[in-house]
Amino acid sequence: MLSITTAAAVLMVLQQAPAEGTDWDKAFGVEERVRDPETGEFPVDPYEQDNANAGAAPSEDPRLAAAFGGREGIKRIAARTVELSEADPRIAAIFAGHDMVRLKRTLGEQLCYLLDAGCDYTGRDMRTAHAEMGVTKADLNALVENLQAAMREARVPFAAQNRLLAKLAPMSREVVTR
Ligand code: HEM
Repeated sequence: MLSITTAAAVLMVLQQAPAEGTDWDKAFGVEERVRDPETGEFPVDPYEQDNANAGAAPSEDPRLAAAFGGREGIKRIAARTVELSEADPRIAAIFAGHDMVRLKRTLGEQLCYLLDAGCDYTGRDMRTAHAEMGVTKADLNALVENLQAAMREARVPFAAQNRLLAKLAPMSREVVTR
C-alpha cells in the first residue's frame, strides 16, 4: 500500500507532466526550421558570397559549356547527381537531413560557374560546406561515380567530362576530412 505522502508525491509529479499536445521542440529549445515559400530552401547562417567559394577558376574554353547542354543541361546534371547520391546506399546517410533543394541549386551554380556557362556561385566554400561531415575518399569516389553517371546519361562527351573532373579533383583536399 502506498503511504499518503508517496501517493501525494506521485500525484504532484503527474500534474507537472506535460499535457497532451505539448510542443516538444519548443519544450526542449529545438528551433523550428521553415522552408522559404519562394525558394523551398531552409535558411542558412550568414556567410559572404563570392565566386571564389566555387573552389576553382572557370574554364576559358567557350566550347565546354555547350558540351554539357549549356546552363540548363548543367543544372539537370547537378540535380541528377544529387538524386543518384541520395539513393546510393554507400553515401545516402551523409545526405539525409541536409537540404537537397539548396544542394541541387548550389551544385548547379558551381558547375555552371566552373564551366563558364554564365552563372555566379552563391554557396559556401568547400571547406565550410563539408566541415564535420566526415567524408572519406571512398565517399568522394562514390559521388564522382554518380556525377559520371549523370554526365553519361546526358551524353556529355568523355573528354568534356574529364575536363570538369579535373577542375573538381583538387577540391578533395577541402571535402575529405578523414
Ligand atoms: C569535389 C567534390 C564535391 C563538390 C564539388 C561538392 C559541392 C558541394 C556544394 C556546392 C555544396 C553546397 C554548399 C552550400 O550549401 O553553400 C555542397 C554541400 C554538401 N555536400 Fe558536397 N561536394 C563535393 C563532395 C561531397 C561528397 C563526397 C559528399 C558526401 C558523400 C558531399 C555531401 C554534401 C552534403 C550532404 C552537402 C550539404 C551541406 C549542408 O546542407 O550543410 N559532398 N557540396
